[in-house]
Amino acid sequence: MTISLIGRGVCESATLKLNETFSILKAKGEPVIHLGGGEPKCKAPFDALTTAAGLLNSGEIRYAPVDGTVEMKQAIIRYTYEYYGRKVSPENVIASSGAKQAIMVAMQAILNPQDEVIFMAPFYVSYPEMIKLCGGIPIPTYAEDGTFYPTIQDVTRNVTSYTKLIIINSPNNPTGAIYSAEFIKEIVEFCEEKGIYLMMDDIYHRLIFDSKKVANPFDFTNKDLENSKLIIINGVSKQYAMTGFRIGWAVANKKLIKVMSNIQGHQTSGPSILLQKAAIGAINGLQSYVESLRITLENNRNVLMQYLKTMDGLKITVPDGTFYSFIDFSAYYKDSAALSKLLLDKVKVLTVPGIEFGAEGHLRISFCGSIKDITEGVERIKWAIDPSSSNELFIGQRKLIRDWK
Ligand SMILES: Cc1ncc(COP(=O)(O)O)c(C=O)c1O
Repeated sequence: MTISLIGRGVCESATLKLNETFSILKAKGEPVIHLGGGEPKCKAPFDALTTAAGLLNSGEIRYAPVDGTVEMKQAIIRYTYEYYGRKVSPENVIASSGAKQAIMVAMQAILNPQDEVIFMAPFYVSYPEMIKLCGGIPIPTYAEDGTFYPTIQDVTRNVTSYTKLIIINSPNNPTGAIYSAEFIKEIVEFCEEKGIYLMMDDIYHRLIFDSKKVANPFDFTNKDLENSKLIIINGVSKQYAMTGFRIGWAVANKKLIKVMSNIQGHQTSGPSILLQKAAIGAINGLQSYVESLRITLENNRNVLMQYLKTMDGLKITVPDGTFYSFIDFSAYYKDSAALSKLLLDKVKVLTVPGIEFGAEGHLRISFCGSIKDITEGVERIKWAIDPSSSNELFIGQRKLIRDWK
């Protein structure tokens, strides 16, 4: 069997693989706790469900326009005005099957083989693979000071004549870091000066804590969108807990959106008309839904931080947003994949190894599940890795004996 170079070079999504592992273990009746999840557990907004049900009942579920329905585009235009203060036209907007597809078609529209794409590390697992799928070269950018907050110097150090695109994901998956307004201003100005595309992956931008704010890139440019290389990515997956609906979007200059639309038309056609209806319901419906999710997540984060702080040796950076924390376990284990495997095998707790996000020695621990899962999960982790733990742990009726170092 011959497989293409691109096919051979692309790795499986570690996070999606873990979801599969969780489902298999759960089906076997294992007492597994998922602290690796990437989706809130609450139900989709009622407005999303009723709006989609109306169309479903009609039985007329047809192809959608490639770049989104008129109503979907109107919802995105209103959203963009509300959260970014920019009035954009329907031709500036494309709806896709998830933010992932919006990112992918944007890259396919921009990148030539060997073009370099800079993104901040630790990073979303799919960025390097998506870039490789487009023939590009992933350039992760680390903060020199070892924090999760790179500076403009960290970024510019990696810029070459091949740099075509810089991606900013704030708040960030996996660290929950919100980058400062000063950093975003510097990046916007730098990209404008150098003619580099700037993609803001804002998929978590309303899930933020401690009254922090996510900087709006439009605050730092006077450029008309048509002359700008700014691309805004967003979607309903995280803020409305609608991951399975697969609706995301991009806002950019008309020329780029047209090319993205041409590409999407040959890939998947327009995103499902039924699921667009649901997304419209969510965006135009009661927004207290997002606020109550945000409050729940902030509370979950506080509980997780409190529990983690009882473990000596961990290096903890408190997340500013999202539903992920990225914890340095290197005082216990240097090899994050080995640690994650140990936790799954021995105490049935699912975490994501930091190496998948470009940072060894860390684990991504999510707090989008229940408080019970968070507290019990951390108790199990603590028992598994702390050499001074008692010899036994009970998980329900099951007695575990600590027979490892
Ligand atoms: C940073 C980031 N961007 C994009 C996505 C993909 O979003 P969607 O589910 O809408 O495709 C994710 C999902 O985990 C993400 O974490």
